[in-house]
Amino acid sequence: MDTKTQTAIKKFPHRAVDIAQSYDIKQIKCKQWLIKELINLGLPTPKRIYVAGSWYGNVLVPLLKDVYQTHIKLHDIDEEAIRIARNIFFDDDMYVKAEVTDSVDFEYKHMVINCSCEHMEPIKMRPGTLCILQSNNYREVDDHINCVDSPQELARQYELSHTYYTGSLDFPTYTRFMVIGKK
Ligand SMILES: C[S@@+](CC[C@H](N)C(=O)[O-])C[C@H]1O[C@@H](n2cnc3c(N)ncnc32)[C@H](O)[C@@H]1O
Repeated sequence: MDTKTQTAIKKFPHRAVDIAQSYDIKQIKCKQWLIKELINLGLPTPKRIYVAGSWYGNVLVPLLKDVYQTHIKLHDIDEEAIRIARNIFFDDDMYVKAEVTDSVDFEYKHMVINCSCEHMEPIKMRPGTLCILQSNNYREVDDHINCVDSPQELARQYELSHTYYTGSLDFPTYTRFMVIGKK
């Protein structure tokens, strides 16, 4: 375990299970899939990358930073998750900022990644915003209030003007869907 994760668990022991779950192999595979498809598309570096429903950002952000040298803004409605992200995982990183934000109330621009689509109603975006969306059909989890059954359904929910990529990743109990597109 890296030192930042050790510190996070020591300072927030009641979050230990949640922090450990953020490193689940499925979480890592989904984030690696996202980065692989973004690299395949070869889109230009955006002015800023927003991450909606970011959780701790601990898996996604290091992968993103290997590809893009730009500012990354983490948004989560959970104040403690943001405190952990800000004070522990990214305390010495001037390119990463974390803010308590209800992503459903925010209007995104430039580029937004939402790997928590199943947790919230569709987010708003300015026309031209590049978005990377992940959701799933795992309805057995109480917090999953907005599951979908296909990447096409996810793209329709977000009313995209252009879709660059749609795909699915099967796990034993559910399927994860991804859409890369433009508002
Ligand atoms: C379990 S986590 C992330 C799961 C996701 N599958 C992933 O891989 O990143 C879901 C996160 O969404 C956040 N969340 C839920 N509703 C939100 C909202 N309206 N605005 C911002 N964050 C929200 C939760 O606080 C939580 O940190």
